[in-house]
Amino acid sequence: MEAEPIVRPKLTSRALRRWVPPLARHLPHLVSAYLVPGRVPPAVREAAMLGVTSINRCEACQAVHDRWGRHAGLRVDELSPAEASAHAYGQRLAMAGPDAMPPSAMSRRHRRELAATAILMELANLSGNRFLPGGDGRPSLQVGDARTARILDFGMQAADRAGLHRARSRVAGRARGDVLELGVGTGSNLRAYPADAAIHGIDVSAPALSIAAARARRMDRRVALTVADAAALPFPDASFDTIVATFVLCSVGDVGGTLREACRVLRPGGTIRLLEHAEADHPAIADIQRRSAPAWARASGGCRLDHDVAASVRGAGLTIVAERRRLGGILVEIVAAA
Ligand SMILES: C[S@@+](CC[C@H](N)C(=O)[O-])C[C@H]1O[C@@H](n2cnc3c(N)ncnc32)[C@H](O)[C@@H]1O
Repeated sequence: MEAEPIVRPKLTSRALRRWVPPLARHLPHLVSAYLVPGRVPPAVREAAMLGVTSINRCEACQAVHDRWGRHAGLRVDELSPAEASAHAYGQRLAMAGPDAMPPSAMSRRHRRELAATAILMELANLSGNRFLPGGDGRPSLQVGDARTARILDFGMQAADRAGLHRARSRVAGRARGDVLELGVGTGSNLRAYPADAAIHGIDVSAPALSIAAARARRMDRRVALTVADAAALPFPDASFDTIVATFVLCSVGDVGGTLREACRVLRPGGTIRLLEHAEADHPAIADIQRRSAPAWARASGGCRLDHDVAASVRGAGLTIVAERRRLGGILVEIVAAA
């Protein structure tokens, strides 16, 4: 008899309409679930997460929460009554929707926290099943193909509308002269550059570069775009006055080699301007980043959530001229000189 194919629910606009409003309502409880003392016990929370995932079967989320569950002392073969009812609640929520009732034996605060984390898990599962690689060859977040390049562009434009464009203006807006942007992607920084800067962009992804080229044409901006690896730049020594990279050092294979190449092509007196996500200052958030880093790296094609950007820059022999940490250290802007 043939095995039944595994059906995994995916992120769709209908699912977003169903799950995002309750998640937004539960946001304060989500924060307290992770950060405030007296929160729902982590093992109970993880049991609910695994309950949701057992229905949705997102392999990346399952890997993360198996690990976190073990870390929290959860034993799936020997659930306590509280963990078992949280697990069953997670399954009900994944099957019936956000109105499923959390275990009534819990305090009101814990019920709300559990609902918040289970709803977040549902959305993470749906996203995971849509974007992350599974055993069946589904696409990853690497932007080597046209569809994932469009997803990257959509995500970056949404983040820019939510306020990221201000950081781009501080980083790219102060570039001078001949500028090289490493990992230019779909060209999200193009509108931030000064009008008199001469922009060259490189990226390993040809589909991302064709979106960047279309963006440049719409803006009536001349930009030279080349498919190249940041760790092996096709330019002579001392070719550029400014090197820019935003959200790139987290995902290049060879961070040291990339920074060394940046130094090689930088003219004396030039600057390297970086905007990267990094490990948060808050220990609880940094802990979440560290624990999810291995699974995220596997799922995203190598993006490091817990990257210490300043240490890499110093390690490459560069001098940090200015460093600015935003959003509790999750965003870091660095100006460096050779
Ligand atoms: C998260 S995206 C950021 C894109 C863009 N810099 C932005 O801020 O919107 C990372 C980009 O780095 C590119 N990339 C990854 N490894 C690279 C490498 N070794 N050399 C050049 N580009 C690379 C990816 O193709 C992708 O476009």
